Amino acid sequence: MALIDMRYVQSDDSKICVVMVGLPARGKSLISGKAMRYLGWVGVPARVFNVGSYRRNNTPQPAANFFDPHNEEGERMRRAAAEAALDDMISWFNAGKGVVAILDATNSTKKRRQWIYEKCSEANIETLFVESICDDEDLIMTNILEVKTTSPDYKGQDPELAALDFRNRIRNYEKVYETIDDGEKHYTYVKLINVGSTVIINQIKDYLSSRLVYYIQNLHIKPRSIWLSRHGESEYNLTGRIGGDSNISERGEAYARALPELLRKSGIPPNTKIVIWTSTLRRTIQTARHLKAETGFEKLEWKALDELDSGVCDGLTYEQIAEKYPEDFAARDEDKYNYRYRGGESYRDVVIRLEPIIMELERSENVIIVTHQAVLRCIYAYFMNVPQEQSPWMEVPLHTLIKLTPRAYGTDEERFKADIPAVSTWRGKGSSARHQDYTAANPKSPEQEAPSEAPAEAKEEK
Ligand code: ATP
Ligand code: F6P
Repeated sequence: MALIDMRYVQSDDSKICVVMVGLPARGKSLISGKAMRYLGWVGVPARVFNVGSYRRNNTPQPAANFFDPHNEEGERMRRAAAEAALDDMISWFNAGKGVVAILDATNSTKKRRQWIYEKCSEANIETLFVESICDDEDLIMTNILEVKTTSPDYKGQDPELAALDFRNRIRNYEKVYETIDDGEKHYTYVKLINVGSTVIINQIKDYLSSRLVYYIQNLHIKPRSIWLSRHGESEYNLTGRIGGDSNISERGEAYARALPELLRKSGIPPNTKIVIWTSTLRRTIQTARHLKAETGFEKLEWKALDELDSGVCDGLTYEQIAEKYPEDFAARDEDKYNYRYRGGESYRDVVIRLEPIIMELERSENVIIVTHQAVLRCIYAYFMNVPQEQSPWMEVPLHTLIKLTPRAYGTDEERFKADIPAVSTWRGKGSSARHQDYTAANPKSPEQEAPSEAPAEAKEEK
């Protein structure tokens, strides 16, 4: 399969404005936040411009009648907020750093969309309209209770009254709302109907937009978790060697036996099916063996989940790499995300090959992934929004199960540690120390001395 780095596929001057369209509580902010996280992860500079937060500068807690189309003052203020957001977005593009801006607002009339389209065209910015349509009243009410009653718009207010007011706000928008129709066929657009159960796509022109549309159409909102685990301690881990395809050690085997119970302890809702994903390397397949046998869950092996390829350094210890390839060793410390092993891969390369895995994960429900240190860091970074320069240095200890649960505007994380010692394979910048058995004789691991800065919970900004 050809792997394509999206940063190089777009022409240098291409700029895309993703224009969200839809009534309130249709998931526009959720889609915007996730799209920004996905783009950031694949290395495309992206930013959300949320018109609601501009409006909040002048009207922090509006009542429903502020949104009545006959309320002239309300209309003026809302128009001013949209103008301010669009101006900032254009300045952001002009500053030369941005590739994708997401304009998060209802943009619910043809007139408003035409104005955005014209402003963007003048500034040489492509537009991609993304409309979310949902007529499931129960889901809309759930959305209101889940996210709207806790919005800054209703801070300090009674949640029941807030929900009622938000319902009336929607009624006001419905008075003027126009869905994207045949009169707007000259726009590039995607219409998502009832959380992607029907998708209408019109005139997608470039690769980045098509990836983005594919990503957005795969999103679902069913409650689920994703569990991440490294393989049990391997024979190579014991001797401090990187890469290879070794078997798991005795302690690794103990972890493999403990994994089904650890998973149960982490909390699985009744009648939940979990799919097991491993790499094609022995150590992950061996680690998932008992899990598969005890649960009967379906299991898939993915080549894309194999460990970062360390090329000519495969099978060496960090100490030997520092000795044999001192310049490479230093270069990797200097920019670990971009450093590519001779004949091997960089973290950036791993992210590119993991893109189909992320697409599939977004489509899937409950999945447990048994994989490797570098790959796990990349997947974790996607869910927890960890910056590229930080992700390769994150601590992901052996014999620990990480449970990630996506929520409306972020992902909750829990960690479950098996009481089975293992070496630490974490290496700090500048060190070429052997992997050590920190859990037995010397309980103070390097990561305890220099804890990872990864956030326990990644919240997308609303
Ligand atoms: P507003 O216009 O008030 O900003 P919004 O459309 O941005 O509203 P969100 O704040 O994103 O709405 O609403 C989040 C809620 O919508 C979450 O509870 C989420 O589960 C749900 N949701 C996500 N995607 C969709 C979708 N495609 N259709 C309906 N609801 C969705
Ligand atoms: O040491 C275990 C291991 O999975 C190696 O096979 C791999 O090369 C390494 O971790 C990746 O971690 P880092 O990028 O920190 O060297």
